[in-house]
Amino acid sequence: MPRKIIIDTDPGVDDTMAIYFALKSPELEVIGLTTIFGNVTTELATTNALRLLEIAGRTDIPVARGADDPVAVPFGGPVAFVHGEDGQGNVFLPPPTTQVIDQSAAQFIVEQIMSQPGQVTLVPVGPLTNIALALRLEPRIAQHVQEVVIMGGNALGPGNATPSAEANIHNDPEAADVVFGAPRKVTMVGLDVTHKVFMSDAHLAEYGRINNPLAQHIARIVPFYRDFFHERSQIDGIWVHDSSAVAYVIDPGLFKTEQWPVRVDANDSISRGKTWPAIGDTDRHNLEPWHNRPRVNVCVDVQGDKVVEMELARMRS
Ligand code: RIB
Ligand code: CA
Repeated sequence: MPRKIIIDTDPGVDDTMAIYFALKSPELEVIGLTTIFGNVTTELATTNALRLLEIAGRTDIPVARGADDPVAVPFGGPVAFVHGEDGQGNVFLPPPTTQVIDQSAAQFIVEQIMSQPGQVTLVPVGPLTNIALALRLEPRIAQHVQEVVIMGGNALGPGNATPSAEANIHNDPEAADVVFGAPRKVTMVGLDVTHKVFMSDAHLAEYGRINNPLAQHIARIVPFYRDFFHERSQIDGIWVHDSSAVAYVIDPGLFKTEQWPVRVDANDSISRGKTWPAIGDTDRHNLEPWHNRPRVNVCVDVQGDKVVEMELARMRS
């Protein structure tokens, strides 16, 4: 039986790659996309989610629109210099012909989890606002979700939005602190591992040679994103963020994990958005503010080459 997943997403070039990787993976059944601000506004994220499913011929998958702003403060604005003005590498796709469902992202998440207890995995690859709002709407989803596999955070290494914080968590630290405190299994696929999953220019060129609409769309949009990495980090390729969370759901054996309680700095400080694990023995876990927090399954290492091979193999299939 394929694992049912909802991808909560801010598409975004790497979000697009992750969505298409999931759609091409027989181990997964994508039962919905929920949208969120981050790389783009929520409005554009929603438009893009609909467009992406149309390109893939998967308009059977519902799209639910998410929150426009973080839970505590207004959204800081999109990052056009990373993903393009359109969030799709400035290819400016025509408007979608399909529409969102008549439920918010939080309502859709709650309904899906509560109607299929223990069977739905959430894969948030953007800020965690919708997941926190769903927990507020129905706290029992924390017991009934199968797992929450988050792309976000940095346990041991530096951030990317700021020297201390990763972009998804930095975009809504208050929401992230709620989600990392939810009792059910929460897995963090953060920069500690995504910076070890590298798609080189040679790998990226593969997409152009794969004859299906999904790979062809990625081939169109990825050069803009790749050029951002080249300028920012002087690498010839990209670090694979959102697809690494999908890879974890398919094959957690490719990752090494540690179980630590995690708090998020939601203060107005230089480490706002930093995920702080309580590393060490139980004494440390008992310290405030980690006291009584559930352990998060934190990815600390990964067989990066295998993740890249798996993603490309699925796109060829
Ligand atoms: O830090 C990487 C994350 O930020 C990814 O989800 C990317 O899409 C951006 O949202
Ligand atoms: Ca994303």
